[in-house]
Amino acid sequence: MTDVDIHKGLAGVTVDRTAISKVNPDTNSLLYRGYPVQELAATQSFEAVAYLLWHGELPAPQELSELETFERTHRDLDENVRAAIDLLPLTAHPMDVVRTAVSVLGASDPDAADDSPASDLAKAKLLFAKIPAMVAYDQRRRRGQELVPPRGDLDYARNFLWMTFGEEPADVVADAFTVSLILYAEHSFNASTFTARVITSTTADLYSAVVGAIGALKGALHGGANEAVMHIFDEIGSAANVAQWLDAALAAGRKVMGFGHRVYKHGDSRVPTMKAALDTLVEHYDAPELAALYDALEHEFVARKGIYPNLDYPSGPAYHLIGFDTPTFTPLFVASRVTGWTAHIIEQTASNALIRPLSAYDGVDERHVDGYVAQIPDTAG
Ligand code: COA
Repeated sequence: MTDVDIHKGLAGVTVDRTAISKVNPDTNSLLYRGYPVQELAATQSFEAVAYLLWHGELPAPQELSELETFERTHRDLDENVRAAIDLLPLTAHPMDVVRTAVSVLGASDPDAADDSPASDLAKAKLLFAKIPAMVAYDQRRRRGQELVPPRGDLDYARNFLWMTFGEEPADVVADAFTVSLILYAEHSFNASTFTARVITSTTADLYSAVVGAIGALKGALHGGANEAVMHIFDEIGSAANVAQWLDAALAAGRKVMGFGHRVYKHGDSRVPTMKAALDTLVEHYDAPELAALYDALEHEFVARKGIYPNLDYPSGPAYHLIGFDTPTFTPLFVASRVTGWTAHIIEQTASNALIRPLSAYDGVDERHVDGYVAQIPDTAG
């Protein structure tokens, strides 16, 4: 085998520049276009953050109003997308459903192949507007409920919850949901964003890149961790069982989902903001047992492993309290992250280079098929 440096998992490798977000693990900070994410969560709507990611600046009132109008008038679930979802079994994972639905939307767009910045931005806004209806409808059909049409008088987060549950959310619920959407929107070259950039680098269309990104996000080492946290909570049952459960889990070499991060090694910059949002939900829904389990597992795991919670740890229980089915958690991440993915797709297209790394071969040495006689004359030399 050749003697080369292998960067397994591309750990520590810088593959390109980006102006979209900056993750700084040393100062525990995350900036979207220069703004600390916690400041955005405290002051902005999700619509304004989406605008910021795409355009590089926060919107002026008129610009925000135009984006809101577009989003509010493109929220319907298209008939062909609904028909495609209806073809899928109720047992299909909601990530497979949203992946399929986005694919149908893309295959139906006559401008799919146009990769001009204006066309890709239009597609980004369309996906932003359309994904909530896909996710909401899928949860409802699995519960045997009818589709709830969107309402143009509600903002993005309130309408999303309206379409999912058929009732207007309390402000505290809509606010916590908005915070989660803002925190999930962008995180530099994570696995799904990198997947989107790899696909874009081949000059494939934006929808193909987003479909690939959804596939990458599904895994439990990435977006699927928010679901996995809830499965772990269900397994543990209550705070009193944490120590015993953890003994067994660690002895079995299991990873505890919702803890650890490839980049942050001293805590995830987004967690305090999301934990504060979770606290408001715990109070609103009067769920002290869940809060006790959350605290006990965090305390015990950090004490034993020195590994801190990531954003999925508080967001999983938050989505559970709001009323989402556990398998729907990662599609909520899709609805948010599609803003970051599409900003990266546009950035990749603007300064493209095919992403194609090398590999070190360590298979069997060259050998030949028995009886093969060369047919093609050797012209070399
Ligand atoms: N539970 C138990 N052990 C963990 C752990 C966790 N959640 N996260 C990391 N570790 C341990 C690993 O077992 C490994 O131990 P070892 O050196 O004894 O083998 C060490 O910490 C380094 O972990 P590794 O997986 O190599 O680090 P990474 O940078 O490649 O991984 C994650 C980062 C996110 C993949 C990893 O922390 C993880 O799997 N977390 C759980 C899934 C999750 O929450 N994902 C969402 C991320 S936002």
